[in-house]
Amino acid sequence: MTNPQKTTQPETAMSVMDAIYQRRAVRDYTPQKIDQAIIRTLIDAAIHAPTAMHEEPWAFAVIQDKNMLNRLSYSAKELVRSEAHGSDSYQAKHALDLVSKPDFHVFYNAGALIVIYSRLQGPFVAADCWLSAENLMLAACAKGLGTCVIGFAVSALNMPEWKAELKIPAEMTAIAPIIMGMPAGETPLVPRKQPEIISWN
Ligand SMILES: Cc1cc2nc3c(=O)[nH]c(=O)nc-3n(C[C@H](O)[C@H](O)[C@H](O)COP(=O)(O)O)c2cc1C
Repeated sequence: MTNPQKTTQPETAMSVMDAIYQRRAVRDYTPQKIDQAIIRTLIDAAIHAPTAMHEEPWAFAVIQDKNMLNRLSYSAKELVRSEAHGSDSYQAKHALDLVSKPDFHVFYNAGALIVIYSRLQGPFVAADCWLSAENLMLAACAKGLGTCVIGFAVSALNMPEWKAELKIPAEMTAIAPIIMGMPAGETPLVPRKQPEIISWN
């Protein structure tokens, strides 16, 4: 029986469990351009995530323009550099090391960046957007595409200059920037620690 609520019917041979275990943060892509239709299908998968009070607080921007991605990468690196300066934390030092490399591209030369913005404010708005981000990444994995969240880009995307250039309303907030493309090779699994189950009654 068809589900009338579905706006598209994504076909996939991969089970949800397979997608969960096979998804990787992919940082090496082929130059192959991703079809608009596939990106629309993935955004459709994203909006099927649950939301608090059924608010659907998200909006999406897609950037495939190479020049724009290069400029945004440069801008993100500058901001991360200035934010990380003077901090003693391991994470800040690692970030500073990375963004100080002239060849480092925050989007790893991926052909597409999908940014999930929140349209609203509220206690669960960010959670809603992140749930849609995971849907999008699992759906991309099921379609043989690689993805990676790029936290480095959040501050730049929230600058008024970038919002103006991307025609994003000022009241929206960039939450989850996700690069996407055809993986150039295999990405090894990043092992997980055993879960700490602290209570089970
Ligand atoms: C909120 C968030 C921000 C992230 N930001 C970056 C980033 O800026 N650059 C990057 O290369 N990876 C980034 N990642 C990817 C993580 O490094 C990656 O998910 C983690 O190392 C685990 O690897 P896996 O996703 O392959 O399991 C981010 C992931 C999350 C959830």
